[in-house]
Amino acid sequence: MHLTLRQLTLFEAVARHLSFTRAAEELHLSQPAVSMQVRQLEDAAGLPLFEKLGKRIYLTEAGREMYEYCRRIGEELRDLDEVMAALKGVRRGHLRLSVATTANSFATRILGAFSQRYPESSYTLDVTNRKTLLDQLANNDTDIVIMGKPPEGLELEVQAFMENPLVVIAPPDHPMTLRRGPIPLDEIQSETFVVRERESGTRIAMERFFHERGMQLRTGIETTSNSAIKSAVEAGLGLGIVSIHTLELELKAGALKVLDVEGFPILRHWHVVHRQGRRLPPIAQAFLDYLNSEEARPLLQVPAAA
Ligand code: PGA
Repeated sequence: MHLTLRQLTLFEAVARHLSFTRAAEELHLSQPAVSMQVRQLEDAAGLPLFEKLGKRIYLTEAGREMYEYCRRIGEELRDLDEVMAALKGVRRGHLRLSVATTANSFATRILGAFSQRYPESSYTLDVTNRKTLLDQLANNDTDIVIMGKPPEGLELEVQAFMENPLVVIAPPDHPMTLRRGPIPLDEIQSETFVVRERESGTRIAMERFFHERGMQLRTGIETTSNSAIKSAVEAGLGLGIVSIHTLELELKAGALKVLDVEGFPILRHWHVVHRQGRRLPPIAQAFLDYLNSEEARPLLQVPAAA
């Protein structure tokens, strides 16, 4: 008997729904396309697979046999998929992902969704500052890194995958929140800023921004934590400059406000990075593919400032 997997797939859907229309909808095909394939399968079998009584269709005896075999073939194909995945090491692999402190806000969500696809694999998520990420890349101590600006001088595969705007934040009762139109940078200069540690990508980007404009910020508390910056700003200890990715909850709750400041946001990007020429473990390759997939897209939204 000469038949194709496609014919079996379409037949299986029609037999399951007992409807050509519903099968066509499920498979995003036109109904005539489905009917034609099923007719070809009937020709190959040499027997009718459906009969029509009134408005409804029923499986014939040959149709019931065909359906039973189809289901078994479907199960075998799924098993085959799993065996191939296991051979490729995607299942039961181990992924070492290292992310910049700031990327933690979304990286955990992405890794969470990805790990549900491969629940038998194990995962290490290292949340650390830029300096440690560079060391890990240099020493081959991690599979994949998510960071702001990738370093120069190391041979790396780099892909930008999402915007990372840095914004100025203030407590909701700060007088500058009432200003209409962009606040000139000169005025910002007289404020005190709660800042990240010197090795942080956020800190480096903000210093470069002011340096390029011949300005220097007055800095107050210095901390390794974005949460600490947000709490300090909320408590009125100064303004802050953070990635908008860290602000999702505070902006929704109205606990902090983004100021409209001349030249802001500082536009940066998130990059996914690994060593060039290194053979990635299959689970790491699967993670990169996932990051580029339609499925991951809803997880890669930049929060709105207002
Ligand atoms: P970080 O963020 O400030 O947490 O190091 C990384 C970056 O923005 O480069």
